[in-house]
Amino acid sequence: MTRKTYDQLRSSRWFAPDDQRSSGHRSRTLQMGYDPADWEGKPVIAIINTWSDAQPCHAHFKDRVEWVKRGILQAGGFPVELPAMSLSESWVKPTTMLYRNMLAMETEELLRSHPIDGAVLMGGCDKTTPALVMGAISVGLPFVFLPAGPMLRGNYAGKYLGSGTDMFKYWDERRAGTITKEEWMGMEAGIARSYGHCMTMGTASTMTAIAEAMGLSLPGSSSIPAADANHQRMSTQCGRRAVEMVWEDLTPEKIITPAAVENAVTVAMATGCSTNAIIHLIAMARRAGIQLELDDLDRIGRTTPVLANIRPSGTQYLMEDFFYAGGLRALMKQLGDKLDASAITVTGRPLVEGLEDVKIYNEDVIRPLSNPVYHEGSLAVLKGNLCPDGAVIKPAACDPKFHRHVGPALVADSYPELKKIIDDPDYPMTPDTVLVLRNAGPQGGPGMPEWGMIPMPKALLKLGLRDMVRLSDARMSGTSFGACVLHVAPESYVGGPLALLKTGDMVELDIPARRLDMLVSEEELATRRAAWVAPPPRYGRGYGLMFSKHIEQADKGCDFDFLRTEYGRPVDEPVI
Ligand code: FES
Ligand code: MG
Repeated sequence: MTRKTYDQLRSSRWFAPDDQRSSGHRSRTLQMGYDPADWEGKPVIAIINTWSDAQPCHAHFKDRVEWVKRGILQAGGFPVELPAMSLSESWVKPTTMLYRNMLAMETEELLRSHPIDGAVLMGGCDKTTPALVMGAISVGLPFVFLPAGPMLRGNYAGKYLGSGTDMFKYWDERRAGTITKEEWMGMEAGIARSYGHCMTMGTASTMTAIAEAMGLSLPGSSSIPAADANHQRMSTQCGRRAVEMVWEDLTPEKIITPAAVENAVTVAMATGCSTNAIIHLIAMARRAGIQLELDDLDRIGRTTPVLANIRPSGTQYLMEDFFYAGGLRALMKQLGDKLDASAITVTGRPLVEGLEDVKIYNEDVIRPLSNPVYHEGSLAVLKGNLCPDGAVIKPAACDPKFHRHVGPALVADSYPELKKIIDDPDYPMTPDTVLVLRNAGPQGGPGMPEWGMIPMPKALLKLGLRDMVRLSDARMSGTSFGACVLHVAPESYVGGPLALLKTGDMVELDIPARRLDMLVSEEELATRRAAWVAPPPRYGRGYGLMFSKHIEQADKGCDFDFLRTEYGRPVDEPVI
């Protein structure tokens, strides 16, 4: 392998020349107390750190970044920490999804505008993983993704609690009157008791698993709990590896091949992945010039069983159990020849290398192909006259009696309207009702908020029911569950057919046939379409206006149209 020389590095153009411009770069670096020995002949490694006081999932990044720097120094690099927006799932309104592309753009421009040769990306909370990766792909410099790691298992009154999943579950109980306020406060304090991201197989755990399976993280790194000392060591290894990748010129287009993307989809399906992962997978692959489609996801989903017995698709376990059972490498071993052996990772070695030596310590947590949690993949892609460009559902996380269902629609045009409906016991509601929320897509939400796990109506909760068919153009949290059809595309706000549905229309869901239709005649739909009036624009200025003008629909990954990449490596170098 030919190694790069110092004068081939981007940073040498900032620091090496004997000219006035470079003299300025050097003197202002000396100003910070650095010495020429810090940069001369060394690759500059950016550490994109998404730490902030508003981000509980990354609270340890303030410490962990020091371990990354240590690794970079050990390997002879110059570490430069560049903070980026932290996209806290816990605090940001209306939804972090509104800002995923903003973090992607920030990452891309931070790397491009500074004298950077390679990067360590520190993320983990839901949108941070795809955002950082999308931005870094578009720059094309070598990078390692450092996953935040899941927080410890939740614990209350002798019971394990899973992030999100148990919050939703027990909140329904609270609304049904079976849990007291005091008990609820105990759960609040027990459900998130260490730094780290959500420890169910929600969007965060799914996305870090996807990054690892795509080859973008060190093997085994995504399963390490945030509070485990292995996480410090792994952080240091990320720093060391990023330096080596620069010399080896191991750029993302050498790693993110169609085989790597298929592996990532296969692993995602076997984890029982979050529905959100579909949008991010498509966006990440397309940044790398690979035209991943919803139909590809459904194809791989149909032949990949769910092997990770982790909530919400699994029955009992959480990410800490997953790590003790062998972690993601053990899951990859169980997948056997379903993984494409040609794909490599940031190590420069094949993804599947060494899997034969991996041990599986608990086959109830990480199931063999012969005893899956669920026989098909956890996600199904639906098409039909309600969603010509697709919709998704997570059959593994809903009551099987709803896999084929016909029922009358009850339509809400906004979240406030929906809240009124579900809390009003007099609303005409039966167990067959299909509860619909629209105007909650990428444009309508705006930002496609996680409103898709529509809360169960009080009247049905009182009857002892805990699931029903729900339908929206929104997303739902990866920790959610239930018979929720999501991501209806095109969304109603831009005039998708969901906009034409009326309360009382019959809706037919058929998951085995992958269909979602409203049983309304073509003539009637044409009449309604002619009468449809587009809602007023959501924004008149600022980021929101740019978002509205350029956001693509869910089936295309919700990227901005102007960030699309037709090829693998569009590095635009600064001119001077
Ligand atoms: Fe950060 Fe769930 S809130 S991963
Ligand atoms: Mg989430």
